[in-house]
Amino acid sequence: MKTTIINIGSLLGILPQGKLRLEGKEMSSVETISDAYLVVEDGKISSFGKMSCLPEDLGEVIDAEGGFVMPTFCDSHTHIVYAGCRDGEFRDKIDGLSYEEIAARGGGILNSADLLHATDEDELYSQSLRRLEEIAAMGTGAVEIKSGYGLTCEDELKILRVIRRLREGSQMCIKATFLGAHAVGRAFKGRQSEYVDHVCEVMLPAVAAEGLSDYVDVFCDQGFFTVEETEKILMRAKEYGLVGKIHANELDVSGGVQVGVKHQALSVDHLERTTQAEIEALRSSRTMATMLPGASFFLGMPYGNAKGYIQEGLGVALASDYNPGSSPSGNMRFVMALGCIKMRLTPEQAFNACTINSAYAMGVSDSLGSITEGKTANLIITRKLPSLAFIPYSHQTPFIEKVLLNGRVI
Ligand code: NIG
Ligand code: FE
Repeated sequence: MKTTIINIGSLLGILPQGKLRLEGKEMSSVETISDAYLVVEDGKISSFGKMSCLPEDLGEVIDAEGGFVMPTFCDSHTHIVYAGCRDGEFRDKIDGLSYEEIAARGGGILNSADLLHATDEDELYSQSLRRLEEIAAMGTGAVEIKSGYGLTCEDELKILRVIRRLREGSQMCIKATFLGAHAVGRAFKGRQSEYVDHVCEVMLPAVAAEGLSDYVDVFCDQGFFTVEETEKILMRAKEYGLVGKIHANELDVSGGVQVGVKHQALSVDHLERTTQAEIEALRSSRTMATMLPGASFFLGMPYGNAKGYIQEGLGVALASDYNPGSSPSGNMRFVMALGCIKMRLTPEQAFNACTINSAYAMGVSDSLGSITEGKTANLIITRKLPSLAFIPYSHQTPFIEKVLLNGRVI
């Protein structure tokens, strides 16, 4: 089946085949063709070019009427399979309690674990599906989803099975990450090292036996898991072929970046608090520095030093962290806007951070994240816009006309 999008005002985000991530200065440009067409065949981008070179056989036609066409956003860090919400803690935060104080009182992640435990799999699926449809409508075409609100073997499997169901029923590209070490489960209160053993010896084998996870994650931070515990889990996960994506340096300079890099993690995420040592560790690694400005915004934390990382020649990805405790939004346009407004990225840098680099951070940049022949046709068509800068500038304006997943309008 063939579809041609014609009269594209600007086709954004063109990259050559084999370019899997952008670093340093490369992040400052977004290749575009104005007055363009793009052909989709069997769900893949098969060709594109100037309207003056439009081929004869168009198949089905979509007229972009001068709007932009760009790759869908890749959201490489979310926790969208959760039950209910944490609006009560929202009030606590307004009253002045910090994220750590709420967690220390038994709220936070444990609160979500209690809610999830009391929710059956079908209900959890339907709540999560609603969030998946919400982010697809806002232009996300690939999403990584973590477990981590189970904290018992049974409930972690419940989350991962829901993620599998979402993947089977959706046109969206979905990757699953096992995050058993998100917090110490209630049954192991005061016995953190036994919980880590349980993650390694009971949960990981069970997750692997059902092939439910693509990656493994650990919340390596002050008050959560140590560098040593993180290393233990990463090494055990390696035996099952699971690569790391680490929560690091959200609450403190945790050592999470270094341990992630040491074990060839695909990404280290958060990075609100880092020093030159983290930049040095990331240099020449294959690990993508991923920052989550939605969490900084919601919790009133510092923003990651994305600009500094890029000036040092590194690549940076941005993701939403959509979860009930620190970022109850999966709007990647807002993430892009925060990247510009709060992290002082240029619109081009923010665009690349939310597309090709975030695709890399979830291991899918060989098939998504740019306009490249052969890549999956997950595309956003906008109404006519004045510039790329307008995307983060006017971030609340509903300018998305159509979202295509696998070449089909959703
Ligand atoms: O990425 N930092 C750890 N995990 C999540 C928040 C989890 C929660 O509070 O529910 C995050 O911010
Ligand atoms: Fe997170």
